[in-house]
Amino acid sequence: MTSDVAPANGRAPLAANPSRPRTFSGIQPSGVVHLGNDLGAIRNYVALADQYEAIYCIVDYHALTSTHDADALRQQTREMAASLLALGLDPDRCTLFVQSHRPEHAELMWLLCTVTPVSWLERTPTYKEKVQQQPDDVNHGLLTYPVLQAADIVIYKASMVPVGRDQAAHLELSREIVRAFNRRYGETFPEPKAVYTEAPVVLGTDGVRKMSKSVGNTIDILGEPDLVRKQVMSMVTDTQRIKRTDPGRPEICNVCQLQRFFGDDYEDLWEGERTARTGCVDMKKVLAERIIRHYAPARERYAELMAHPTEIEGILEAGADRLAPVATATMAEVKEKMGLR
Ligand code: AMP
Ligand code: TRP
Repeated sequence: MTSDVAPANGRAPLAANPSRPRTFSGIQPSGVVHLGNDLGAIRNYVALADQYEAIYCIVDYHALTSTHDADALRQQTREMAASLLALGLDPDRCTLFVQSHRPEHAELMWLLCTVTPVSWLERTPTYKEKVQQQPDDVNHGLLTYPVLQAADIVIYKASMVPVGRDQAAHLELSREIVRAFNRRYGETFPEPKAVYTEAPVVLGTDGVRKMSKSVGNTIDILGEPDLVRKQVMSMVTDTQRIKRTDPGRPEICNVCQLQRFFGDDYEDLWEGERTARTGCVDMKKVLAERIIRHYAPARERYAELMAHPTEIEGILEAGADRLAPVATATMAEVKEKMGLR
């Protein structure tokens, strides 16, 4: 799987020292991607790959903190890879790989654990949420989750991390861990910064909570058109607009807010709502059709890729191989600084 020198898929391995600033992000293999993932993060993965040396990772080690079915994890990892490729990640312009294919992430995590006070991890909001969500499975991986996330980023010395706002606390913790390491062992890692899109928090179809698979309020952008229609038509709009003739308030209506990302005529659409020329159902129909049209090519590409799993495997293996020299060099530097060689 890994080789230090062989070019992967014809592309040269990444140099240990970046020639351009690096961007890194990770995404859980949770099966299908939803609109929140794309508007909040994946669009930025694609955009940043133009200017920066971009590395994107499907974080299967992280997924093990909640998913314990081996076949499901394998399948969902493949589905996430196909989704990212279909949504525009070009393996010739960025590096896409699976976290467990580069075991150095877990090794570096252990080293970073030794500079991370337990109290920082216990106060992490996502840890507290997980304890509530899965009280019978409060495994140690949940507590250490942010340290592995920090290792993912810093092993490649990435300085920018495209994520949704829900990752802000994790990113702050990564920065604290970097500062703690650099203080103890000398300047080694850059402090990574979160990079947000114009939609850092996409609300779900309930209009209240963040769109999330675990809440069940998603719009599955690569799903069948009928599924997307059903999900969009179920969206909660302006709850104070009771009668069809009541004026709407686009600023607080989630459907209207999402129109901003699917056409530049949203001001006109909003005016129709404000004057009650259009109703919420009209607005949902427009949004559903636009989402379906926008993602039609990606949906096709997704189906093609899923029909050719060896193509996906090849891209992921080549990605992990390309990263070997950087991961090896960082581990050597860190071990030297920590007195392990
Ligand atoms: P996850 O599926 O939790 O691994 O999330 C993958 C990426 O999508 C992360 O960068 C998240 O911050 C981002 N993301 C997930 N849900 C949303 C949402 N509802 N709004 C904005 N960004 C999101
Ligand atoms: N915790 C992130 C999420 O749930 C996934 C993740 C793992 C990540 N490692 C990362 C994100 C490194 C950015 C950088 O979405």
